[in-house]
Amino acid sequence: MHSIDFYLTAFISYLEEKTEAKEPRNLYEPMTYILDLGGKRLRPVLTLMATEIFDGDHKQALDAALAIEVFHNFSLVHDDIMDAAPLRRGQMTVHEKWDVNTGILSGDAMLITAYQLFENYDAKKFRSLAQLFSATALQVCEGQQYDIDFGNRDDVTLPEYLKMIEFKTAVLVAAALKMGGIIANASQQDQNKIYDFGLYLGTAFQLQDDYLDAFGNPKTFGKQVGGDIIENKKTVLYLNVLENGTVVQKKELLDMYSIQPKDPSTKVETIKGIFLESGAAESTRTAITEYTGKAFDVLDGMLISKDKKEVLRTFGEQLMGREV
Ligand code: IPE
Ligand code: IPE
Ligand code: MG
Ligand code: MG
Ligand code: MG
Repeated sequence: MHSIDFYLTAFISYLEEKTEAKEPRNLYEPMTYILDLGGKRLRPVLTLMATEIFDGDHKQALDAALAIEVFHNFSLVHDDIMDAAPLRRGQMTVHEKWDVNTGILSGDAMLITAYQLFENYDAKKFRSLAQLFSATALQVCEGQQYDIDFGNRDDVTLPEYLKMIEFKTAVLVAAALKMGGIIANASQQDQNKIYDFGLYLGTAFQLQDDYLDAFGNPKTFGKQVGGDIIENKKTVLYLNVLENGTVVQKKELLDMYSIQPKDPSTKVETIKGIFLESGAAESTRTAITEYTGKAFDVLDGMLISKDKKEVLRTFGEQLMGREV
């Protein structure tokens, strides 16, 4: 087992080796653009790490790791169109730099490219990997649809929200890990355990994403801070106010969520104030810690060596303390 940095470096060199802008340029350039913008690369790193946790060779997992990262980037290109987001990783989003149609089609090509990468595995592994990938990708679409549907509803509950983020975000983190298990021929039980670890970690990760969307540092966050507020997203922060806020705080939040001012800065600041005063920000921090803790409990129950558990635990802790 190597260090987290080792897997990150191995993945980045593979990515650089494999991505090229082919013709027609307007189809492939956005793909290399978004992939070259960086990002944390957490999903592919998890695939490589999981492979070696179950005594496989990370080199055999590079194509699956790349497939996961290309899929993730496809989902971001389409997500940014749906969320009308101007910024990604500190740069213009694809639909801003090109246009919406380019974002749609390049995104489609990325999804197909991701599938193609599994063709590099033998028939048995291909089947398992592709099966997991298809089921996961469909769940991501379902999660994204729930996210959109929540926009038109005023009775969304926290359990419904948790289901939504499990689908749009956590299942991909879980699948990234399970793919490592598949590649390393781990037992079904081990594959399921690492998947569950990923579900909890991925849930904590999306809670943190919602938190940072409001409270992240605009200099380092890489996305538009307050973007969820501007888009009137029913995030965990919003739902917490409705659940635990005072009558006045709830009313103010609902009033604020019903307006679309040209300059949203006052709206963003007012709502952030409500998130803080109502205790919603605090509860969200607690929930992030709780879900990370649940992931660590699953990890503790796994039959792998102590130093391997330690690498995954460090990874989880770093994720929890992240600012991007
Ligand atoms: C952003 O994912 C989308 C979510 C599921 C929250 P990341 O935060 O992993 O994005 P990058 O790849 O590091 O930019
Ligand atoms: C996105 O959730 C999840 C997927 C891309 C599937 P968000 O919309 O919160 O992600 P960001 O904040 O734009 O990265
Ligand atoms: Mg978004
Ligand atoms: Mg979104
Ligand atoms: Mg977000």
